[in-house]
Amino acid sequence: MIVLETERLLFRDHTLDDLEPFCAMEADPEVRRWVGGAPRTREAAERKFREVYLPPVRNRMGMWATILKEEERYIGYCGVYPNFGEAALGYHLARPYWRRGLATEAARAFVAFGFRQLGLSRIVSAVEVGNDASKRILEKLGFVWLRRERNATRAFDHFELGARASGPERRDKPARSRD
Ligand SMILES: CC(C)(COP(=O)(O)OP(=O)(O)OC[C@H]1O[C@@H](n2cnc3c(N)ncnc32)[C@H](O)[C@@H]1OP(=O)(O)O)[C@@H](O)C(=O)NCCC(=O)NCCS
Repeated sequence: MIVLETERLLFRDHTLDDLEPFCAMEADPEVRRWVGGAPRTREAAERKFREVYLPPVRNRMGMWATILKEEERYIGYCGVYPNFGEAALGYHLARPYWRRGLATEAARAFVAFGFRQLGLSRIVSAVEVGNDASKRILEKLGFVWLRRERNATRAFDHFELGARASGPERRDKPARSRD
């Protein structure tokens, strides 16, 4: 199922064809630097893919295969997903596609989707301290910093965005919902 499209991106359920680019992305230490910290082995990536990403998204809340329309290529996963009773925003792209505004485009579309189509009142996100690109995306979308959480080795900033604080989309073309 295609859930959403933006100017450059299309979001759909994962298929087995996405396995190879997914594993390549997860083997990249730079991609994994602020999410998990270490690259995933092929075996671990494939297990994760089959258990978490391949099953169809339920209730339209989950991480969607993200396709660069121009190249018809799988470039990562994005979405609003259930996390400890909250709706969390996530984005995760392969390195060749960084710094083109694509994650911002995806995040903006899913925030609008979450509020308008899913009827959410609040979307949250947690970012490891140091992941400046991710933090910048949240700031651009109007997320508000809530608190810093530390464990033995890492620190995370928690952010939230309320439906009322999220204004109409301005900079990107409006996201089109497929349903
Ligand atoms: C975080 C991530 C999604 C950003 O993707 P991206 O497509 O490069 O992001 P964008 O091009 O939309 O850029 C977002 C903003 O961050 C800035 N930015 C990008 N990389 C940056 C960096 N390394 N340091 C500081 N700012 C950076 C951009 O300039 C842009 O800000 P601007 O519009 O004010 O210029 C991508 O790096 C990624 O997938 N990383 C691995 C997974 C991950 O960390 N996910 C987030 C977990 S919380």
